[in-house]
Amino acid sequence: MRKNIVAGNWKMNTTLQEGVALANEIKEALNGVETKCDVVIATPFTHLVSVVAAVEGTSIGVGAENCADKTEGAFTGEVSAKMVASTGAQYVILGHSERRAYYHETPEVLKEKVLLALENNLTPIFCVGEVLAEREAGEHFNVVAAQVKESLFNLTADEFSKIVIAYEPVWAIGTGKTATADQAQEIHAFIRQTIAEKYGNEVADNTSILYGGSCKPSNAGELFAKPDVDGGLIGGAALKADSFLGIITAF
Ligand code: PGA
Repeated sequence: MRKNIVAGNWKMNTTLQEGVALANEIKEALNGVETKCDVVIATPFTHLVSVVAAVEGTSIGVGAENCADKTEGAFTGEVSAKMVASTGAQYVILGHSERRAYYHETPEVLKEKVLLALENNLTPIFCVGEVLAEREAGEHFNVVAAQVKESLFNLTADEFSKIVIAYEPVWAIGTGKTATADQAQEIHAFIRQTIAEKYGNEVADNTSILYGGSCKPSNAGELFAKPDVDGGLIGGAALKADSFLGIITAF
């Protein structure tokens, strides 16, 4: 059966010292708490080694927020999937809407990143989601299906079974405006159906599909109660141990 996952996405927040302190707070908050989901924290590259060390011996997973689309070499400023894996991190967020919008990441580039992540045994948390104008035009199903197909449908079924999807409507990210639980369920079910058409029901049923976009303790319970919502990718509310814990325990 598919896993429930709550993943924090710290984005470009916290210094190294603040990040390690936050990781320690999360670790302490979770100590002795029986969770019904896997917990992951995705941090800036500079924090990975220290955060991996901070949560060692716990079940908390660690991830990067991006990786390069190239293996190695003369790509000044880039960080490869192999480098991420060498820190002990197990996950990498790919295709976040901020990367797509501000850093012009294309479906082709994301395809390369996904392959390199998988080659290095990292679990990609692959983000999809429409902007407001696309939802208002009723285009959200087509947009999300295209994002999934263009960067992931080159994978074998075996490779695809290692992918985690995060549906994050761009209009809900950092805006305080959450998709309703029914809106989330509708599109998560559609994504699962799209996966089933390509890879069959078993792969689709085993794929974790997370919701992201202004998820907080007060709305997480309702979202996670939906049958096709398998957890959350959490931005703002992951920067405080108590609100992150409130979301983790919403299952
Ligand atoms: P948010 O961000 O929870 O702050 O809306 C979610 C995300 O971008 O992953």
